[in-house]
Amino acid sequence: METKEAILKRRSIRKYLDKEIDEETITLLLKSAMAAPSAVNRRPWEFYVVKDKETLSLLRKSSPYTNIESPLIIVVCGNTLRGVSAILSDFWVQDCSAATENILLTATDLGLGSCWNGVYPLKSAVRKVKKILSLPLNIMPLSIIHIGYKNEEKEERTQYDEKRVHYISERSK
Ligand SMILES: Cc1cc2nc3c(=O)[nH]c(=O)nc-3n(C[C@H](O)[C@H](O)[C@H](O)COP(=O)(O)O)c2cc1C
Repeated sequence: METKEAILKRRSIRKYLDKEIDEETITLLLKSAMAAPSAVNRRPWEFYVVKDKETLSLLRKSSPYTNIESPLIIVVCGNTLRGVSAILSDFWVQDCSAATENILLTATDLGLGSCWNGVYPLKSAVRKVKKILSLPLNIMPLSIIHIGYKNEEKEERTQYDEKRVHYISERSK
């Protein structure tokens, strides 16, 4: 699949078949995550792969918006100690967002469904996910990504709106 096709085909899938994802596929998803750009190439990410049913169920209940049954969750976290300076440390959100999107696009390319569920900056969700996964202080969960074989279909689309595009014309000299 071409990249531009995967970008349009990626949709948030919230219904999944009860079918496992194999290890090779999971590694492929993680390789694409770690190919993402990051500020000063610090790669301040950590990935928690969850297949255990009990942990999946606990994570589902970690925010009111993530109650989705999937056979696999990847929790993308920022390692706040990997920033080289205080200014750079805040870039973990953008770096981990790029990694999250790479996982979604690769899942789409492989014919899998996925859904990005936000954790950070929801304080209560951050607290719950940290507790469920026993994360140390410097590891901040950014996103819960549900992944699996789809049990619903969604149309590909863009939401292009020309009113949101602002061309800057040449400055007068
Ligand atoms: C930062 C972020 C947080 C999101 N959190 C949730 C969530 O908690 N629960 C959920 O069902 N979808 C969540 N979504 C998915 C959005 O609802 C979805 O992307 C949006 O409705 C557009 O639909 P589409 O992904 O099918 O294009 C989130 C998406 C992003 C980027």
